[in-house]
Amino acid sequence: MADLLNPADPDFARDPFPYYARLRAAGAPAARVALANGTHAWLVTGYRPAREVLSDPRFSNVPPRSAGRPKADSPAQRARGCLARHMLNSDAPDHSRLRRLAAAAFTPRRVDELRPRIEKLTGELVAEAVARLATEGTVDLVDAFAFPLPVLVIGEVLGVPEADRADLRAWTYRVGSPADALEPGAVDEAWTSLHAYFTALIDRKRRAPGDDLFSALVRDTSEGGLDDGELLAMAFLLLFAGYETTMNLIASAALLLLTHPGELAAAREGGAGRWAAVTEETLRHASPLEGTTWRRTTERVDLGGGTVIPADASVLVVLAAANRDPEHFPAPDAFRPGRYAAGAARPAPHVAFGHGAHFCLGSRLARLEAAIALPTLFAALPALRLAADPATLPYRPGLLVRGPARLPVCRADGV
Ligand code: HEM
Repeated sequence: MADLLNPADPDFARDPFPYYARLRAAGAPAARVALANGTHAWLVTGYRPAREVLSDPRFSNVPPRSAGRPKADSPAQRARGCLARHMLNSDAPDHSRLRRLAAAAFTPRRVDELRPRIEKLTGELVAEAVARLATEGTVDLVDAFAFPLPVLVIGEVLGVPEADRADLRAWTYRVGSPADALEPGAVDEAWTSLHAYFTALIDRKRRAPGDDLFSALVRDTSEGGLDDGELLAMAFLLLFAGYETTMNLIASAALLLLTHPGELAAAREGGAGRWAAVTEETLRHASPLEGTTWRRTTERVDLGGGTVIPADASVLVVLAAANRDPEHFPAPDAFRPGRYAAGAARPAPHVAFGHGAHFCLGSRLARLEAAIALPTLFAALPALRLAADPATLPYRPGLLVRGPARLPVCRADGV
């Protein structure tokens, strides 16, 4: 009998860890579960099998032809369809080519050069939050800080002019919202606007390249460079891979620090190294990408221990669960940044950024954003407090991303 899994259940979204721990404790490298939509999938919840599956080419990233490919019969559906061609949806050799070109633009130097811009954007958002707290008493830290910061940073990466940033933020917010949460047609309209905007942006960068990272990709028209469709898919991928994940990292780290005042005090006293440890431990403890994208077996795969996954099966590697595997992380459910602090016994590397060929291309940028965002926020608001019971905070539904949907905060000093 397959285990039933309902990712839409709010209790599961808030705390899926007991469910995953039960699957992992059963000892098999993968467990077949029944999803609430009537389909079945294989879940990998252990640390070692997760890394094995993610480096095994028999687990393909190419989505089946029919699944998730909208018919291109409306502008909004065409826009969504563009996403299908990105590198996360491809295997070697296509993937290797796309990845090589993107990595050539995403150099550590280019990412590090973003620091002053990220510091400026962070400072502005924190100042706005401080002002809103003074007038409104409470703000939602997701809406006011954790969401806009990564979107604005992707704006920097893509070289979106400052005058267009508010549009980028509004469209991204809409395409990331459930269709029934907004006025009818708003989500489709946002998809269409983003598609038109990115198409024009590519054209503009081609005629007048800037010193942004995306211009470097557009400029590379040598043989094997990206064609326009691939550039469009890349722009969408960078936006979606970069904002929701980083948003969850910042929101979850803030929540963990607000609920662990001793760790917050240690971070304030410990400087950059301790803040980096907070980021690493948040990535492990509250992995922003709960699962990788779906994999599909290209053939029958024997994972050992009697677990045989048939060909053409859907497989999900649950990074959040692998990062809580007690065999690799002692006291896995405890939030202990100290395990990543300098001088600590070397912990196992977490898999929050994935593993193998598709390892996150933006990990350096995500770490840089967190390294700036968290100390800036807590320095400007020393008396920041949660304005809700953490046990009742709503979480984003689904198996892909994980983080609080809202994080109401106030100032304990009431100023
Ligand atoms: C905390 C923030 C982030 C987390 C936890 C995260 C996590 C991940 C993970 C787990 C994967 C692999 C998915 C899979 O194997 O199915 C991935 C891939 C990717 N990420 Fe990130 N990511 C973050 C931020 C970013 C940022 C800021 C960018 C860029 C702006 C980015 C760009 C990408 C790209 C392009 C890929 C695809 C790589 C490939 O297919 O070879 N990510 N990310």
